[in-house]
Amino acid sequence: MKITVVGGGSTYTPELVGGLAELELEELVLMDPDRERLDVVGGLATRMLHDRKTRVRLTTHLDDAVEGADAVLLQLRVGGQRARHGDETWPLECGCVGQETTGAGGLAKAMRTIPEVLRIAERVRVLAPDAWLIDFTNPVGLVTRALLDAGHRAVGLCNVAIGFQRLFARLYGCAPSQLTLGHVGLNHLSWERSAWVDGVDVLPGLIERHAAALAGECELPAELITALGVVPSYYLRFYYAHDQVVAEQLGRPTRAQEVLELERQLLAMYPALNDKPDLLEQRGGAHYSTAAVDLLASLLDDRGDVQVVNVRNDGTLPFLPASAVIEAPSQITAAGAVPLAVPEVEPLQAGLIAHVSAYEELAVRAALRPDRAHVEAALLAHPLVGQYDLAQGLADRLLAAHQVWAS
Ligand code: G6P
Ligand code: MN
Repeated sequence: MKITVVGGGSTYTPELVGGLAELELEELVLMDPDRERLDVVGGLATRMLHDRKTRVRLTTHLDDAVEGADAVLLQLRVGGQRARHGDETWPLECGCVGQETTGAGGLAKAMRTIPEVLRIAERVRVLAPDAWLIDFTNPVGLVTRALLDAGHRAVGLCNVAIGFQRLFARLYGCAPSQLTLGHVGLNHLSWERSAWVDGVDVLPGLIERHAAALAGECELPAELITALGVVPSYYLRFYYAHDQVVAEQLGRPTRAQEVLELERQLLAMYPALNDKPDLLEQRGGAHYSTAAVDLLASLLDDRGDVQVVNVRNDGTLPFLPASAVIEAPSQITAAGAVPLAVPEVEPLQAGLIAHVSAYEELAVRAALRPDRAHVEAALLAHPLVGQYDLAQGLADRLLAAHQVWAS
């Protein structure tokens, strides 16, 4: 089996390779346009797998990397941390959250990323027509939607659900594999509504006993979780505590600046290491490798188990168009991911999901046709923007940043 990682020079790659080691691949190809980084990260990846039968190959050429692959993992960051720093700062000038996947910053990232991901996917379609595209590239919901709209064999993946599965299992005292999440929503806009162990929903008990620990995880008040009876993901903080987040962000470095410093340290360490360092845990991608390996194994071995992935709605959430992309527990077979039926969604969640999903439709359109009218429409549709003056102020800044990046 041949697996290709596009964006293989990411400092995250050793995390992924740690998991991929289990799959006993014939070939792992790490592709990245940055040769220097690729050599440093790829060197560590090669040492991590030295006693396995897997051959690790490093390349800067996309066609060479994807040809004949069984699966292609996409983990790129168009514009790097520098562009991310922009996404995290200019929305603040308008009093809006500066975030790389939520709100105006997320739209800017989608506009940089979607055309590039589609270009890569077209090469995969030609050179590895049966390959699965597994997308970790943010914003995952929007990128997956653009890939599916273009007819690619794609599944979108995020670590939020697997993080909750592990946390709930630890708090309850069982193995993560024994616990099934009632996860609902969109990528980076999700709630855990239940947690099943041996046919029993243990979430009400967990909330009763561990509200403070759960609140710490999503950085929201414990009373909110108790009142809702569900556990929102960390990304809901950008909605439920928007103004507070903006005030915090104004007084501290951006996440991009923090990650730049972390990456500097990681890249300095990698040449002397044979395994991933603990420092890598300070990145946000905990357990990505487990999620990726589980998904790959089920797609390639037709396992038929249930995993939380980004997938076409197709009527699962009846209040959304069939064409929307949702993040949902889905059955994973060699034919792909099929979302399971979900119990009726409360208005408190359904309203926000529908609102953001409509924005996502317009955001994908703006990424494919990046003109002022499409950008303004997407911003106006976003629940964190809404007002026309604000949409215009953000559109000015977004388009200016986009132009600087594109030139
Ligand atoms: C979480 C999210 C990812 C995101 C990451 C950011 O893991 O699910 O989608 O990319 O955080 O981590 P970073 O270390 O780049 O801030
Ligand atoms: Mn994510």
